[in-house]
Amino acid sequence: MFNNPFQRSQKASYSALTFSQNETLPSVSEFISVSHAIDDDYIRQLKPNVPVSILEPQKLVKRTQKFVKAFTGHPMYAVKCNPDSVFLEAMYHGGIKRFDVASIGEVRLVKGLFPDAKLYFMHPIKAPEAIYEAYKEHGVRAFVLDYAGEVDKIIQATGGAKDLELFVRIAIPKNNPGGNVATDFSSKFGAKYDEGVELLKKCRPLCKKLGLSFHVGTQCHDPSIYAMAVDYAAMIMIDSGMNVEALDVGGGFPADLNSDQKLPPIQKFTKAIARSIKKNNLEHLDLLCEIGRGLVASAGSLIVRIEGRKNDLLYLNDGTYGGLFEAGGAIGLAYPAHPIRRENKPFSGSMAPFRFAGPTCDSVDMMRGPFMLPDDIQVGDWIRLEQLGAYGEVSRTDFNGFGRIKKIVIKSESLSKKGS
Ligand SMILES: Cc1ncc(COP(=O)(O)O)c(C=O)c1O
Repeated sequence: MFNNPFQRSQKASYSALTFSQNETLPSVSEFISVSHAIDDDYIRQLKPNVPVSILEPQKLVKRTQKFVKAFTGHPMYAVKCNPDSVFLEAMYHGGIKRFDVASIGEVRLVKGLFPDAKLYFMHPIKAPEAIYEAYKEHGVRAFVLDYAGEVDKIIQATGGAKDLELFVRIAIPKNNPGGNVATDFSSKFGAKYDEGVELLKKCRPLCKKLGLSFHVGTQCHDPSIYAMAVDYAAMIMIDSGMNVEALDVGGGFPADLNSDQKLPPIQKFTKAIARSIKKNNLEHLDLLCEIGRGLVASAGSLIVRIEGRKNDLLYLNDGTYGGLFEAGGAIGLAYPAHPIRRENKPFSGSMAPFRFAGPTCDSVDMMRGPFMLPDDIQVGDWIRLEQLGAYGEVSRTDFNGFGRIKKIVIKSESLSKKGS
């Protein structure tokens, strides 16, 4: 598998912030560590002819500290969002000690880096071998499920373990107020109301700790959706009559993608959750979340080069098979775009909406945007796309031979000297 972070040997320390970590993925043709901001002049000198992924771990440390302070429970980080060890170590340093893992590869990766971290295996449908290894070799006790078959599988694969923490994942009804999410997360996974009630009853005698979890959908703009979901979860718990000990409010915290639409600050989301918890008398529960995008998106960006232009369609050297998966197809995220002129001359100043096409020959490799850029942008210019720390590099493939990138990590001497 291309770009497999799990094959790397990992060392448990915060050393990534000192950037001794220079073991690169197969896709990385050049790894550069700098201690200054990446400005347009730097890019003009670098003249990159492959996409450049930029990681800012110091920014992520700060963002993590802010979120950990605002969230009234224990945040987990959803590793799937970006498993780069530079980022994982930054979040660990910022106060995240629990991780939502979805595969045995993610279990091995995180345990290799942080042996003391608490892992939650939050994929509702798991391979029995993965459950076995996670439980027996890595000390994982927390597992999610959304139907009875998975309960039986977990019990069987762990040899009837008595120390399990089982989380029943419920689906959140679709017609929520606002419905303001990029992708609904309750169509593929999640028990319906009555199923959730029955699952809580089934799991209670089989586990040491019982929890309920949900995911409101990724890139959720509306804090009231979390409040509504907590209300709904509370009703399921009451109707089950079971003693539930944990509530996991999932991910969905948004990245700031659209400069026209001001996002509520992260505290609005955490306060809406806390208020709903209080209203429903659930303060005794162990509160968790599985944040992904809302933590890491702003700490990563991608520089792409324009290889062709037909009117409003820009042909880039990266696309949906590379770092821009979520800009394409059904998701269609329009990342904030900053133009960089090849020569050091100003753009016209007049902006226009553009679409992008990726480098592969596949006609689904298209991104509708609209991406607002100067109308005289041309072949050879670069574009810096922001908010790509989430679900960007992790989806890169080498389809059509376009997998190579440069990777730049912006280090800050002051912070790395402080160590962990
Ligand atoms: C089970 C689960 N938890 C958490 C997340 C992270 O979601 P987000 O990036 O929207 O915070 C995901 C994303 O796919 C998920 O599937």
